[in-house]
Amino acid sequence: MSAGQDFFVIKAKEDGVNVMGLTRGTDTRFHHSEKLDKGEVMVAQFTEHTSAVKVRGKAIIQTSHGEIDTEA
Ligand code: TRP
Repeated sequence: MSAGQDFFVIKAKEDGVNVMGLTRGTDTRFHHSEKLDKGEVMVAQFTEHTSAVKVRGKAIIQTSHGEIDTEA
């Protein structure tokens, strides 16, 4: 559940896309917020600290399960 594992890619289709990481475990809260501007890409993994990710704004999310588009 750390380096070497599967990763996912988020590409912003507009300025100010927010990528928020949520904690793993019984306490589910945001622990990280990343702002992406149009065309910027974030490559990330799920880790021992991060079990879920919320994306706000227009973006493309690629995972090993496929690709999905957010709607603004
Ligand atoms: N320090 C965080 C962690 O190791 C960094 C991180 C990994 C992260 N994946 C993320 C932050 C996804 C936001 C979204 O878990």
